[in-house]
Amino acid sequence: MFKPDLFKGKRFLVTGGGTGLGRMMMEKFVELGADCVICGRRGGVLEETAAQVMAKNPGRRVDVHSVDIRVATAVEEMIERIWATGPLDGLVNNAAGNFISQTKDLSPRAFDAIANIVLHGTFYMTNACGKRWIAEKRKASVLSILTTWVWTGSPFVVPSAMSKAGVAVMTQSLAVEWARHGIRLNAIAPGPFPTEGAWARLNPLKEDDDNRYSTRNPMGRVGRPSELANMAAFLMSEEVEYINGEVIAIDGAMGLMGNGTFSSMMAYSEADWQRIREQIQSANASDKAKRS
Ligand code: HXC
Repeated sequence: MFKPDLFKGKRFLVTGGGTGLGRMMMEKFVELGADCVICGRRGGVLEETAAQVMAKNPGRRVDVHSVDIRVATAVEEMIERIWATGPLDGLVNNAAGNFISQTKDLSPRAFDAIANIVLHGTFYMTNACGKRWIAEKRKASVLSILTTWVWTGSPFVVPSAMSKAGVAVMTQSLAVEWARHGIRLNAIAPGPFPTEGAWARLNPLKEDDDNRYSTRNPMGRVGRPSELANMAAFLMSEEVEYINGEVIAIDGAMGLMGNGTFSSMMAYSEADWQRIREQIQSANASDKAKRS
């Protein structure tokens, strides 16, 4: 289905599309024929990205808007300006904020700094687009980028986990409420995909990050950006429009491993396993001896 004109005639907005995962998804949409709009707080970064992507994809347009999605009036004004140049067919809620901290050390402002971006900002964006799509009877797709913490919670990133769980519930709720208007909503829950912005805040001690995932991820590696971009293109495509209200993990099964009682044993060596086997066998043998 990834034919070069998959998104011909479509126009998607990617929040936080100037860098990282947002940029990667946007580039994939453009490669597949879409025009895109990217927004973020840093105008210069957006301009540079847009220029690079347009130079690589002649005939395609990437428009940019500086905005802080925490400010509802700014979101509404931006969406109005975008619509003045033509309607959107899709929205990717990718912009986020997060940092690692012990929860007891968070001030109310620290909580708000994350929740205002992830929970409030995502809602402002989604509703500003949604009400226009409904008024115009226009089919559309919304994709939100979450994490597997929406199912398990996560220590040390509580404001993010809470806010993203809220967006997961928004996805499910609006998938039902807006289905009759031709609007569908889905979400991706990525595992570790190293990007500059996230890694500076989530791996501040610069641990040997990629090696960590050789034991902590069942597939022994972090995600490849192209895998996330492919997943996003798949879900945004009308070829799969019956998928609605889903949150789909792309994490090499890392989220599931975290739940397993014995998951930490993924780090055991062959010698460890041999020792374990011998210990269990010797316990079995002594039980047997007692029974006979
Ligand atoms: C404790 C902290 C803190 C920290 C900030 N604060 N950093 N508290 N530990 N490390 C507190 C401040 O002291 C302040 O509270 C309040 O938070 C607001 O801080 P500001 O710096 O004024 O906030 P602001 O300028 O609005 O910046 C927002 C931000 C910033 C979220 C803190 O990091 C940001 O702009 N991030 C956007 C990009 C981003 O985070 N990308 C990563 C997303 S990764 P007081 O009370 O002192 O005033 C992601 C999931 C990845 O979302 C999943 C990977 C598996």
